[in-house]
Amino acid sequence: MVRRIPKHLVRKGMFIESVECPDTEFSGRRFLVQSDDTLRAILATSATYALVNPQKSTVDIDGAAPSTLQAEERQRTIETVAQATQTLRGSFDAVRMGQLQVEALNPVADEISDRIEASPDIFLKVTRLKSKDKGTYVHSLAVSALMMRLARSLGYAEDAMRELGVAGLLHDVGKLMVPNAILNKNGGLEAAERRVVRNHPEIGYRLLKEQGNVSEMILDICRYHHEALDGSGYPAGLKADRIGPEIRLATVCDVFEALTSTRPYKRPWTARDALNWMFDREQLFDKKMVIRLGGIFAD
Ligand SMILES: [Fe+2]
Repeated sequence: MVRRIPKHLVRKGMFIESVECPDTEFSGRRFLVQSDDTLRAILATSATYALVNPQKSTVDIDGAAPSTLQAEERQRTIETVAQATQTLRGSFDAVRMGQLQVEALNPVADEISDRIEASPDIFLKVTRLKSKDKGTYVHSLAVSALMMRLARSLGYAEDAMRELGVAGLLHDVGKLMVPNAILNKNGGLEAAERRVVRNHPEIGYRLLKEQGNVSEMILDICRYHHEALDGSGYPAGLKADRIGPEIRLATVCDVFEALTSTRPYKRPWTARDALNWMFDREQLFDKKMVIRLGGIFAD
């Protein structure tokens, strides 16, 4: 029987019945994958999946396929997360010195977008393996991934999606200035410590603004991702009519990621619990976006 697999998992020796995208060199073609060039061409299409015929393939797809393919995908995702974390760390260091090349983050966003398209579950599971000192970086990768996935589901164009992905990568850059002892603290924060944490959107905004090459959308998301629709958020206490859709999108993804991940002070919630909790708080979060996110991640 023909098997539908993510395009990233196509290998030489597989017989392709269809690359699932319109209007490319592959439309209407059935062929055996024989070269790295063909693999790269398949990866470059807008397809998410390809249909593979195990009977006509020269490699064994039926036998060990599902677990092998999953393991490969997991390994590839682990590598993506490791590399992306390193690039992001470099970018955060550059921000500190006022030398951020914001375009350098475009390929990171693209790679994350590819991985989450292939398998949102594995990407999020892998980011859960984060260690404490990498917390902000990996949280940012996961939020970036969620934002792009949600943006795709809402019909954003590729360019805007990527910009949202970069905004996700940079939204918490202000945490550079929050001591790790506070970020990783077990138990509740003192009032003074809470003030320091709540300063991170404004600090991040100022840092990014100083770079001189960061878009308004990215600046806004950094500054306002902790605002709430009823005006109870921070730092500006903006009300719903002043909170644009991209900021709402970022907030929903940020909170969902925070609730479903492990933190020093809490256990992870299930996707369902997190979505229900947010759904019940329409005074804080954009309900339509929560519902849309639920369509992607509810188990
Ligand atoms: Fe934040």
